[in-house]
Amino acid sequence: MIKKCLFPAAGYGTRFLPATKAIPKEMLPILTKPLLQYGVEEAISAKIDTMAIVTGRGKRAIEDHFDRSYELEHQIKDTSKENLMNDIRNIVDNCTFSYTRQARMLGLGHAILTGKTLIGDAPFAVILADDLCVGEKKSVLQQMVEVYERYPDHCIVAVEEIPKEQSHKYGIVAGEILEDDILKVTDMVEKPEPKDAPSNLAIIGRYILTPDIFDVLQKTKPGKGGEIQITDALLSMAKEGRVLAYKFSGKRFDCGSVDGFVEATNYFYEKDRG
Ligand code: G1P
Repeated sequence: MIKKCLFPAAGYGTRFLPATKAIPKEMLPILTKPLLQYGVEEAISAKIDTMAIVTGRGKRAIEDHFDRSYELEHQIKDTSKENLMNDIRNIVDNCTFSYTRQARMLGLGHAILTGKTLIGDAPFAVILADDLCVGEKKSVLQQMVEVYERYPDHCIVAVEEIPKEQSHKYGIVAGEILEDDILKVTDMVEKPEPKDAPSNLAIIGRYILTPDIFDVLQKTKPGKGGEIQITDALLSMAKEGRVLAYKFSGKRFDCGSVDGFVEATNYFYEKDRG
């Protein structure tokens, strides 16, 4: 049912300067794989094969990564390095990638609205690649697609419990319990101070959105930080009872911060060594 995944990837990545001066933050590797490739692989695990990427200036390396590189392939053919390209080669051969540019950084909601031209009129997933997620048995997006199949026509946000003093870093939701791990959202606030946070449930960078979100985003006024926030757009849908929060099973690394990035690196390094 969900065939497309949108990847907002236009941000400057200022927290990683100078590394991100000429390299998109989405291309920073955890071990040998860029963050965005982890996101694309998660989308594929949820049976999605059409990737829509919202880029910006200085992000061309993303397009080159998700393309064939004949010269390089020729170079490593019949050497011990040949299999290092297997995963990315399969991705390129089996998925479609399309791109549009967000010319001005007006917030996550605006980035998603910019992607409308690539998404069209069907429900879609959104992955924020700097939230690197590892599912327990199934990937986080796969779990969410399964929730969507049981609750079609709802928007779904992934949530996890955070210490309340960190609420200023996240969209925070509150709601009524529908199932053990699913809430019907009644309130959501973008990056509130702890005293104003309606709960300790934070939105993680995974969403399933219905296409009417675009009309709502078009009418959404700038909110926190003067930016158009997806959280504000979703609140107006939540008021119609159409937003669910899903407590996923798995781990999430905040690779938008140096600490989270190092933690993810250590985790995958240990996992790799067996
Ligand atoms: C965005 C969203 C926020 C969400 C977060 C998850 O914020 O606006 O609601 O909790 O992603 O990572 P950002 O981290 O882009 O500032």
